[in-house]
Amino acid sequence: MRVSILGCGHVGLVTGACLAEVGHEVMCTDNDRAKLGVLEQGGLPFYEPGLAGIVDRNLRVQRLSFTRNLGEAVRFGDVIFICVGTPPLRNGDADLAALDAAAKLIVTESQTSKLVVEKSTVPAQTGQRLRQALAVYARQSTLRSSFRVASNPEFLREGTAVFDSLHPERIVIGVQDETAELQLRGIYSPILEQSFSCPIHDPACPPTPPPVLLVTDINSSELIKHACNTFLALKISYANLIADICEKTGANVDQVIEAMGLDPRIGPAFLRPGLGFGGFCLPKDIQAFLRLGERAGIDVSLLHAVENINRRRVESLMQKLHQALWVIQHKCIAVLGLSFKPDTDDIRFAPALDLIRQILDAGGEVRAYDPQAIEKAKAELPTVTYCESAYQAAQGAEALIIATEWEQFRQLDWALMRETMGRPLILDGRNFLQANTMRTLGFEYYGVGRPLEEPAREAIA
Ligand code: UGA
Repeated sequence: MRVSILGCGHVGLVTGACLAEVGHEVMCTDNDRAKLGVLEQGGLPFYEPGLAGIVDRNLRVQRLSFTRNLGEAVRFGDVIFICVGTPPLRNGDADLAALDAAAKLIVTESQTSKLVVEKSTVPAQTGQRLRQALAVYARQSTLRSSFRVASNPEFLREGTAVFDSLHPERIVIGVQDETAELQLRGIYSPILEQSFSCPIHDPACPPTPPPVLLVTDINSSELIKHACNTFLALKISYANLIADICEKTGANVDQVIEAMGLDPRIGPAFLRPGLGFGGFCLPKDIQAFLRLGERAGIDVSLLHAVENINRRRVESLMQKLHQALWVIQHKCIAVLGLSFKPDTDDIRFAPALDLIRQILDAGGEVRAYDPQAIEKAKAELPTVTYCESAYQAAQGAEALIIATEWEQFRQLDWALMRETMGRPLILDGRNFLQANTMRTLGFEYYGVGRPLEEPAREAIA
């Protein structure tokens, strides 16, 4: 099938590349010329494991293409996926201006009928507004194409986006007519049947089960996405609440969470306490969902609590830093990890950046290292000293903070790290390191919700 993708961000680019990979003809565009420039030269505008190979292969076999000509992109596909950004407005609402602009573009440029699919995360009832907008713009246009609207939320995670797109556990399509359903079933049939040869699958891994296809109305489909992301945020804030209680009572959050996760009704995922959730999805989606609920007159205090707990995570680590260092001013602090989570260079709403801002405000100096996100962070925080390795960042530091749990930090020679540091003090904002191991190596170690030292076990007589 011929598919157009409007917007080459994380969702658009990964969706476009993966749909090409499973056999469709895909043309992508974006109104950010710099981003398209990078793509046309064979680069990627962001770091995402496994994506470069897929983009490259599908460009070569000409199933994937990029164009600066927005009209050409609109005319190319029978199905157009809108993957534009929906950033938060000041009041927390999703800014739908780019979606509206896409609707206008589609009407102005289409010469045949199109299925317009919302892939961007949008509040419930956006599909209705989109349909109205398409109809209004169509009345103003001399061209006479017809448009159908569908919703198809994306559940991919940054860092594992390619795997998530090719092996999703569910595909949700919100439709109001049979033709739209058939078209979307057609697009997703290779993924539903897992009938393609997976470019990233390790042959040693068992095949993933085929995804469940859920066909819903458009409002429900839109709401599913917000409900999922908000629930994930809720789980994280709950784990952080438990961690705080553990800290005050001398309990160990690792043990508490492990036991909770073994209950299949709870599950272990998204219960890792620490600096809290960041990124461009969870924080903005919970806000947009809150606004939707408030406007509908629903009591959304539960969601406010989730946000408030998250907002206090960086503050809480800063208190520990103050407690340990007494005075932060003129002290050098190493920060490992800048991206909002590992395996991405995305720093949007990254807790690490918030933390660094607060250290700088307190008069501290920061030496930072991240395997991928330094270039992006430089633009946001120019006064930080960016280092080429974790060892360099640790040199002379009076404290070291793990802000993002990149796997490679586990492999560091921590004995050597201790030698290079001015004071062997670790604040582990992600409970990433083994407390005992670090203490045995001579570090003063503070995690989140972990006891200050291992309680001595009484011997059984
Ligand atoms: C999230 C959702 O997980 C995806 O399903 C969704 O498709 C995507 O948003 C989206 O809306 O596009 P993502 O933003 O890539 O994906 O990141 P997550 O893996 O959800 O992590 C979000 C934040 O929560 C990170 O800062 C991470 O460090 C934090 N986190 C996650 C915790 O603090 N504890 C946990 O247990 C898990």
